Amino acid sequence: RKLSIIGMPMDLGQMRRGVDMGPSAMRYAGICENLSKLFDAIDDKGDIAIGRPEVMIDPDSNLRNLQLVAEKNVELAKAVSKVVEEGSFPLVLGGDHSIAIGTLAGLAKHYKKLGVIWFDAHGDLNTAETSPTGNIHGMPLAISIGIGHELLTNMFGYSPKVKPEHVVIIGARSLDEGERLLIKEKGIKVFTMHELDRLGMTKVMEETIAYLKGKTDGVHLSFDLDGLDPSDAPGVGTPVTGGVSYRESHLAMEMLAEADIITSAEFVEVNPILDEKNKTAAAAVKLMGSLFGEKLL
Ligand code: ARG
Ligand code: MN
Ligand code: MN
Ligand code: MN
Repeated sequence: RKLSIIGMPMDLGQMRRGVDMGPSAMRYAGICENLSKLFDAIDDKGDIAIGRPEVMIDPDSNLRNLQLVAEKNVELAKAVSKVVEEGSFPLVLGGDHSIAIGTLAGLAKHYKKLGVIWFDAHGDLNTAETSPTGNIHGMPLAISIGIGHELLTNMFGYSPKVKPEHVVIIGARSLDEGERLLIKEKGIKVFTMHELDRLGMTKVMEETIAYLKGKTDGVHLSFDLDGLDPSDAPGVGTPVTGGVSYRESHLAMEMLAEADIITSAEFVEVNPILDEKNKTAAAAVKLMGSLFGEKLL
């Protein structure tokens, strides 16, 4: 089994600088060293060049940096698609969560019934109309199920990338009004922190795996580090208290490894400028280990 790493140092989906250094921070935390025993080969493809303008292009837009976010995500989609064609496991390093638009566009070409596990404090189900911020990193899941600006939903000439009934959100504790409506309208499966507390992570992951298993032909894990509690992952741009603990998140990864259903993954929103001694990137790298089957004994 082979792993291919693609860095996507994009911060245009939100307003805070620093998340563009996420790929460096995670590599520095030791991705290759930590994962080398779990794969026959690791191929780090390096970073997609973003060439970020130093001046904010359209600070007042309700779809901030739309053109660049679209353009750069097409490049990411092509890179991800190529990795799938090579028969390697695509691991994308963010970057803010708007990069999921490109990742999913690249994957969905190959998986007609792609499942998505969206591990996140947020739903990322906003549109330009419902977003309180205009930040595209709050919209990628809506875009991937076909709702949003056409330039993004129709990337690669087709939409949607993912069916709402193939999506599971885990860790939600901050949803905007429009996102709540969309979840209800589309019947999206969500395990909020309430369900996590009541059922425990074991049951939540058992249900998630059972829900996706028979009906999907691949499952992508989109892991936003702000799904973790800010005490375990302080280096994120939009922290929300009361999150998933370090141990619970590892259990989730270990259960996914055991079930052997994950066919691609991305780790996003790591912002080393806001972090404490690279703690969040280090957590991400340890989670990757668990996801790929690392065991103590
Ligand atoms: N719901 C808020 C918004 O639309 C926050 C989104 C945060 N998303 C993220 N990927 N961290 O702006
Ligand atoms: Mn989030
Ligand atoms: Mn189906
Ligand atoms: Mn997110």
